[in-house]
Amino acid sequence: MAETLYPGVALVTGAAGTGIGSGVALAFAEAGCRSIAITDRNEELLMKNQEALTEQFPNAKIFALAGDITQEKFVDELIATVVQTFGRLDYCVNCAGIMGNNQISTETSLEMFDKINDVNYRGCWLSSRAEIKAMLNQEPLPSHDPRRPPQRGSIVNIASQLGFVGRPAATAYCASKAAVMAMTRGDAIDYAHKDIRVNCVCPGVIETPMTTSQPGRRELMAPAILIAPMKRMGQVAEIADCAIFLCSTKASFCQGSAMVVDGGYIIN
Ligand SMILES: NC(=O)c1ccc[n+]([C@@H]2O[C@H](COP(=O)([O-])OP(=O)(O)OC[C@H]3O[C@@H](n4cnc5c(N)ncnc54)[C@H](O)[C@@H]3O)[C@@H](O)[C@H]2O)c1
Repeated sequence: MAETLYPGVALVTGAAGTGIGSGVALAFAEAGCRSIAITDRNEELLMKNQEALTEQFPNAKIFALAGDITQEKFVDELIATVVQTFGRLDYCVNCAGIMGNNQISTETSLEMFDKINDVNYRGCWLSSRAEIKAMLNQEPLPSHDPRRPPQRGSIVNIASQLGFVGRPAATAYCASKAAVMAMTRGDAIDYAHKDIRVNCVCPGVIETPMTTSQPGRRELMAPAILIAPMKRMGQVAEIADCAIFLCSTKASFCQGSAMVVDGGYIIN
């Protein structure tokens, strides 16, 4: 059996700072992945994470390229550069996202609606489209387990519990995440016969800069935390582990699924 479940190349978007993307990159490295590309629009924090990972995992190559995933040109260049650097692309976790305005529809401007959808839905689609194109050009890697089929690539889109259920003053955000779930199912159907798996993870309230860093955010999140029977915020590592599981050949029969990781929020 291979020494790691991740002999291939990983790419994580939204991987600056201390949010879910940075946790996913760390989880890949801890699980033995030795070829990891990270991207984010925040160049300064992205480069800090590249340095930290390189120092902690000297045997891994950590490639970083900053840019905006709403820009088709950047996304296509990013994927081409990752393939040029590592020779292929196997596991992609699309984490880049924004929360937006926390306003009801009649108070939401068209600009804000477009911004939320541009990053959360369109940017995720641009990323996964380019990732799938790259995967289609490569031969599958063998599975960790000879009883399971080889895998040409695996994509995990980070949606949200709010793709399933509503929440006050979050219409545009909820809809953008439901779109990510629908997009995941569509691509899962279209590329299954090419040995490409596409799934999404739907986090509950997770302790990241998105939910804690701006004034008033913790207060805004407090009632949502109490809806979940576990009555706590989730940690980045708890989402990262699920995302990298779905990327691995241990998840070989997961296709188009929406894995809810929310402390029980949507069952309550
Ligand atoms: N934190 C939560 O409670 C929670 C819950 C459900 C879903 N999510 C989703 O998880 C993902 C990660 O969220 P997080 O909590 O880690 O947030 P975060 O703000 O900590 O991280 C998001 C990262 O995405 C980057 N980003 C934003 N727009 C970008 C763009 N246009 N191009 C490139 N990078 C961009 C940001 O710079 C940031 O580093 C998001 O898609 C979010 O919607 C988060």
